[in-house]
Amino acid sequence: MTDAPVKLSVADLTKRFGSLEVLQNITTEIRNGEFISIVGPSGCGKTTFLRIIGGLEQASGGEAHLDGRRIEGPGADRGFVFQQDNLLPWRDILANTEIGPEINGALSPEQRRNTLRLLKLVGLEGFEHYYPRQLSGGMRQRVNLARALAVDPALLLMDEPFSALDAQTREIMQTELLRVWEEGRKTVLFVTHQIDEAVYLSYRIFVFARRPGRINEIIDVDLPRPRPLSIKRTPRFVEYVDHIWKLIEEDVRVSVLEEHAG
Ligand SMILES: Nc1ncnc2c1ncn2[C@@H]1O[C@H](COP(=O)(O)OP(=O)(O)O)[C@@H](O)[C@H]1O
Ligand SMILES: [Mg+2]
Repeated sequence: MTDAPVKLSVADLTKRFGSLEVLQNITTEIRNGEFISIVGPSGCGKTTFLRIIGGLEQASGGEAHLDGRRIEGPGADRGFVFQQDNLLPWRDILANTEIGPEINGALSPEQRRNTLRLLKLVGLEGFEHYYPRQLSGGMRQRVNLARALAVDPALLLMDEPFSALDAQTREIMQTELLRVWEEGRKTVLFVTHQIDEAVYLSYRIFVFARRPGRINEIIDVDLPRPRPLSIKRTPRFVEYVDHIWKLIEEDVRVSVLEEHAG
């Protein structure tokens, strides 16, 4: 992994909303094929960071380059999966999955074959002509993932994609995501507030601190792959979770108190 080419480089990235400094001098490099998670307390700027990388938000200072090109806006080289699925209710699953290629003017028999392959990959073969309302939350997030992959992005950006799901479905989705990821080895930036989810999925974890948001520590997760769910019960795994929890505990305490204070 350390010899893979740099995919995303972020230099001195800063973001302010008015007088609020949300991100301070974020500098990092992510290599091709890495699975990176970002964890940190609520309000530390995780979503803002992802939105800047996605080109949905402008940085106040600094810059980010994807494959050597400066990020200045959204583009087909980045695929997004959010917590809330934003599937179009009047389109069936196949049509929802093909929105990206359609917008890019890339619909073709070959693209159709690729879409069907992706739906099969995420476990939705046979559901192509269902509508979003007919699917469970977990299935809708599978569609979201297939849709993000349909444009074959250089970078996959995922913002708490499983946090609306129940605990069992979430664990199934974690294993499924790893299985899908093993197929294509996309570079992934994955935001979560679930520490065990981050440890389970990642090569490296960026632990953010808040006020202002910044990278507090980077953890290399040196656990073998493929990773069965039972790895979560091993001492090494639990050590990683404990270590990260200790890093953000105080921050989380403060952010919970602030939320209650309104
Ligand atoms: N568009 C915006 N305008 C003003 N403040 C914002 C905006 N978006 C986010 N913030 C603030 O920036 C901080 C970081 O938010 P966010 O990136 O959503 O954090 P996280 O995803 O880590 O919970 C929060 O204090 C939030 O209220
Ligand atoms: Mg967020």
